[in-house]
Formats: sequence, structure tokens, C-alpha cells
Amino acid sequence: MKQFISVKDVADINSLVKKALDFKAAPFAHKTLGANKRIGLLFLNPSLRTRLSTQVASQNLGMEPIVFNVDKEGWALEFMEGAIMNGTTVEHIKDAAPILGNYFDILCIRTFPSLQDKSVDYSEHIIHQFIKYAGIPVVSLESATLHPLQSLTDIITIQESISQNAHLKNKKPKIVLTWAPHIKPIPQCVANSFSEWVNAWGEANFVITHPEGYALAEAYTKGATITHNQDEALKDADFVYVKNWSSYEDYGKVVCTDANWMLTNEKLAVSNNAKVMHCLPVRRNVELSDEILDGRNSLVTKEAANRVWAAQAVLSEILMATNK
Ligand code: CP
Repeated sequence: MKQFISVKDVADINSLVKKALDFKAAPFAHKTLGANKRIGLLFLNPSLRTRLSTQVASQNLGMEPIVFNVDKEGWALEFMEGAIMNGTTVEHIKDAAPILGNYFDILCIRTFPSLQDKSVDYSEHIIHQFIKYAGIPVVSLESATLHPLQSLTDIITIQESISQNAHLKNKKPKIVLTWAPHIKPIPQCVANSFSEWVNAWGEANFVITHPEGYALAEAYTKGATITHNQDEALKDADFVYVKNWSSYEDYGKVVCTDANWMLTNEKLAVSNNAKVMHCLPVRRNVELSDEILDGRNSLVTKEAANRVWAAQAVLSEILMATNK
């Protein structure tokens, strides 16, 4: 693996999941793979899980992680080609990224979308410029449209849960991605990415449910059943992935705040005793009810814990490719 910015960088999802679960069983099995290597973790936006799990994963592989909160501690970066930099930006990505490429062996970036301009966000121009100018492997810690480390974690968590629950074995699981209410515009990244990975994995009956106006880009959802009827979608579900996202069509807008879309135990009664997932952070009793988050069907803590093994599997693949 030369980079990790989407599922397209993965040759075989199941073998990457196996690798992650092997690391979960033996975290230090390859503790010298990254010896004398340095990994830069650049954050243009906040994070708890991604930041810490990637640091732990890199240290388990013997790498030295260095975290740089670009948004708070760095010079304001310019990404526009030919920009006349007489405004607020201080340093062009063309100047900054090659230096990072010299300091580090792997560069990881978190960069959220503006939610102002769909074509700019969906061109992924920020992470692509880091790739273009840094000259070293780049790993997405969530970009404008995708969150692949989260989605890999989600597939790991689903597979792990299937292996631990007799009633889920020997059947194609029904996985439902449901929109949830939120008080502010949230990127489509997690929902796009989850859809892309579940479709690429190809081992589930995949249903997406959301209110009108929240259709995701077809590039990610093609192959899934899409419905505006949440109750119908939840019938016989084995896994329910809860997430808010802002409108893709009316880009970045909140076009519905209907609190009835929040998942409750009453709604889940029609499911197949579904396990409930969320990437976190979650706004309790807005996106997802206390009764579900604190209930026995919630996978959210296991899911967040699995972020380490997803990151470790990806970093080990990159190290093996670059150590050749
Ligand atoms: N799920 C996730 O990416 O969490 P953080 O934003 O805290 O990293």
C-alpha cells in the first residue's frame, strides 16, 4: 500500500481486517517494523479518537509519532495555485509540504470540508496537494469527503461482532445506515465512506435511510437500497449505523431537523436485535438516545477501541511497501 485515502487503496478488505484483528490479539508482534521511522500527524481540525489511536498504533510498530495542530500552531496555509498571498494565508502548501516530506516517513492529514463549495470539497484539493508536494506516503485521518480509517474500523467491528454472535454467523448481515438529527451542518465524510466500504466489501444487504433532501453522492451509495422510511429500513436489521450528515444536494445545508429520526429502543424493536454503531463524537439525545448508547447492543466503545488496530494494519502495510 502506497497511500491510504480511500477504499480504492486497499487490495483486499478481508485480509486487511484479518491483519487488524491479528494486531488486536498481539499488538507488539511487529514492534520493530517502523524502527527509526517518523510519522507526522497533521490536524487542520479537532480530533480525539483518530489522533490518539494513530499515535498508539504507530508506537506499537516502533515508529515515532509527531503531532502538529496546524490549525492552532502552524502558519495559515494557502492551497490556491497562483495565489497572490496578500491576505490571511502565510505559507503555500507548495513550500510547506516538501519540508514535511523531508522530516517524516509517513504523513497523516486531517482536513475537513468547508461545506461551502461542493466542487472544491469533492475535488479533495487539500489532501491531493499534500500527496503531490510531500513526496511520501499520505494517510487520510478524515478528508473533505471520506474517513477511511473509520470505515475500516467499522468493517472490523462488524466482522468481529459476527464472529462473536452465533445468530449472526452463516448469514448475510443486514446493515442499515440511518441519518440522525443534529443541530449544525456536519460533513458527509463518514456516511460516504461507510457506504463506499460496505459496498466494496460486498458481504452485506446494505440499506441507507434518510429524510428527503439528504441523498448522498451516488458514487458511494450505488448498490445500496435507499429509502426515506426509517421504520421499514430497520426491519430485521443486524447492524444499525447512526450518523448525521448535511445535505449533499443543497450543499452543506441542514434541510430537516426532525427529532423523530433519533434512534430509540422502541424503533429498534423491529430489528434482529441489532447492534448499534456510531463513529463518535455523538450528541446524546439529539443524534442517539442515552438508552441505546448505554444499552447492551451499543458497539460504540468497542468500535472506537478498534481504531488502533485499523490504523496499525494500514501503517504496517505502508511500512512493508516502503521498506522493500
Ligand atoms: N470518529 C472520529 O474520527 O473521532 P475523532 O473526530 O475524535 O477523531
